[in-house]
Amino acid sequence: MISPKMEEALNEQINREMYSAYLYMSMSSYCNSTGLKGFANWFMVQYHEEMVHAMKLYEYILRQSGRVRLKAIQEPPADFESPLDMFSKTLDHERFITQSINERMDLAVSEKDHATQIFLQWYVNEQVEEEQNDNDIITQLKLIGDNPQGLMMLDRELAARLTTVPTDFSKGVEAAMAAGASAGATG
Ligand SMILES: [Fe+2]
Ligand SMILES: [Fe+2]
Repeated sequence: MISPKMEEALNEQINREMYSAYLYMSMSSYCNSTGLKGFANWFMVQYHEEMVHAMKLYEYILRQSGRVRLKAIQEPPADFESPLDMFSKTLDHERFITQSINERMDLAVSEKDHATQIFLQWYVNEQVEEEQNDNDIITQLKLIGDNPQGLMMLDRELAARLTTVPTDFSKGVEAAMAAGASAGATG
């Protein structure tokens, strides 16, 4: 069981993960409109990751006999100045999400809710990875500066990013992730 307060906090986090997905989908669309297909791919892979983050919360709330209550998703920005602008905004947003996860972890600790602490630990680790990825790309974009050849090389690199998370949640995201992990281990 989770407390009503925790249920509300996790529902809020679903909304924030859905907004993250929406934001990266918007960035992907913008990249496509500027011909940066590799960047568009990177953001669409990120979209799928955020959907998994939302779905994991959705299933956790249900497993704990809670109620999922979906809130309105805010409209994301549609236009951006440059790839560096997009990744700066991505990093800012991920720092906000990290803060949001930390607040939920603080609540779980204060409520002595051990199950939710263990559940949220996955998100704590995930946020370290996401901020690192964004920082790495920002460093490369700063080195590239106004060099179009450098930008095209990075675009080709980002085109290679594959979606490693499940995209079919019809049997549940945890089941799909477990199947993916065992497929990965044998294949
Ligand atoms: Fe996320
Ligand atoms: Fe994220």
